[in-house]
Amino acid sequence: MTKSEWLRESREHLGLSQTDLRNLLNTALNRSYDKSRISRWENSKENIPAEVIKQIESLMATRKKRAKVIALANQKGGVGKTTSSLNIAAALRRVGRRVLLIDLDPQASASDWLLGPKGLDYFREGRSIYHNLLNDRPIEECIIRTEEEENLQLAGFDLISSHINLAEADSRREPGFEHALAENLDRVANG
Ligand SMILES: Nc1ncnc2c1ncn2[C@@H]1O[C@H](COP(=O)(O)OP(=O)(O)OP(=O)(O)O)[C@@H](O)[C@H]1O
Ligand SMILES: [Mg+2]
Repeated sequence: MTKSEWLRESREHLGLSQTDLRNLLNTALNRSYDKSRISRWENSKENIPAEVIKQIESLMATRKKRAKVIALANQKGGVGKTTSSLNIAAALRRVGRRVLLIDLDPQASASDWLLGPKGLDYFREGRSIYHNLLNDRPIEECIIRTEEEENLQLAGFDLISSHINLAEADSRREPGFEHALAENLDRVANG
């Protein structure tokens, strides 16, 4: 395989468009590459700089590892949980990580922000973290993919949305319920 073919294949494997890759490299390497530069690298019209090869090799190496789970929780209201979650998700995406944001707050502020009134349509379709945790819907079926939603496309990450009905989870006391999300996430953590 030539270096150009390797670059295209790696980029596609990472789920990045040429524009995504350009943004990622410019952020990570403090450069100002344009999209046509990526095209020239992929079409063997220009040599790929060593630092670019290194950056992509390191992304491919981390891609093979199991997903990391980051939870943001604080009992106090209004301390920036929602804002931080959205920004951390978008920032990780910008540096080339694949991100699944899960809204676990019955207030559903992150879902409202990202989906607006369409959040209710997804809920009616049975796609929310409520349906996964309380109705045993497989977690894969609850994920709203970035391609499906304009606002998600802009942010680049996938989402499992929330709904006020999730408040029922607080009264679920059967043993093991506290592990339900971790167990369900195992199904998608390597995907
Ligand atoms: N780093 C920050 N600097 C200044 N303002 C911020 C920052 N982070 C969040 N805010 C503002 O603080 C307010 C509360 O933030 P946010 O809604 O993210 O908190 P929260 O912990 O999710 O709240 P809740 O408990 O209601 O879910 C919002 O108006 C938000 O814009
Ligand atoms: Mg919040």
